[in-house]
Amino acid sequence: MTNRVKIEPTGHEFNVNSDETVLDAAIRQGVHLPYGCRNGKCGKCMGKLLQGEVAYNEAPSALSSADKANGMALFCQAHATTDLVIESREAETAADIPVVKLPCRLEALEKLNHDVMYLKLKLPATERMQFLAGQYIDFLLDEGKHRSFSIANAPHNDEYIELHIRHVTDGKFTTEVFANMKVKEMFRIEGPHGNFYIREKSNKPMIFMAGGTGFAPIKGMVEHALKTGMERPIHIFWGVHAREDLYMDDIARKFTKLNPLIRYTPVLSQPKDDDNWQGRTGWVHEAILEDYPDLSGYEVYAAGPPAMVYAAEDAFKAAGLAKENYISDAFEFNKD
Ligand code: FES
Repeated sequence: MTNRVKIEPTGHEFNVNSDETVLDAAIRQGVHLPYGCRNGKCGKCMGKLLQGEVAYNEAPSALSSADKANGMALFCQAHATTDLVIESREAETAADIPVVKLPCRLEALEKLNHDVMYLKLKLPATERMQFLAGQYIDFLLDEGKHRSFSIANAPHNDEYIELHIRHVTDGKFTTEVFANMKVKEMFRIEGPHGNFYIREKSNKPMIFMAGGTGFAPIKGMVEHALKTGMERPIHIFWGVHAREDLYMDDIARKFTKLNPLIRYTPVLSQPKDDDNWQGRTGWVHEAILEDYPDLSGYEVYAAGPPAMVYAAEDAFKAAGLAKENYISDAFEFNKD
């Protein structure tokens, strides 16, 4: 059975099935209700039930009888048994999401190609980090140092944090990742950070420009768009040196099969002879301009080396892209 939930004061609405909680349904449909642990312990998802009825599989510890008597509900545990009207905050920008520090355990470590490592971080069972697809986290290191990496998964799938880390020659932290990091090791992370996320109030078609491991946040954003049924065209351009650098080419290609609104164009700047590359070559931003000489009706999301992002900026503006429609993670964080 499906019920309808209306949120006050925004008036946003979404559906909730009887086998999912109100919060799970909201995340699935890209509605950003607040949350912390997602298991009834922290109380951060609490909101007011203005109309309708909910049921709990078992009484959640963070909901006291006084809360209940005051009409409050814990949406990470509540199942709707009727249509609902609820009162809750909603995160619309990164500023609405609290930044948290959490311990995490390295659950998996896998080399994706010659210089990119896949990391899967497991958060404590009682805590989650709410984030918007495309944001980044910091590893907290000794002496107050930190290293920033984009989150490569989407919020509906937030039991783990996925990262793609490229080995930077002379980069102390990434060298450590490649040489010594071990599964089950514990770390402290802080996040989410950054303003790199899909502007969901817009209906403009989106161009995603990734350079190297800039594919990580783009992957998270596309997974979010797929999960929430976003109906905006997406064209992913992924610029790398040679074929071996397209470390998740199969995933990018799969996106295009899952939704006809998604296109994917890999662009190699220095294909090797044995790449037998028949595809696009050159700089990724030039490939975008060849396909979209007039960018005035688009949003461009750029993730990757700052040199790529800044080189593209003037050219895109000359092609009509409005300043506010050029959104990049390179504007705010420094990698290893
Ligand atoms: S009680 Fe923690 S998110 Fe619901």
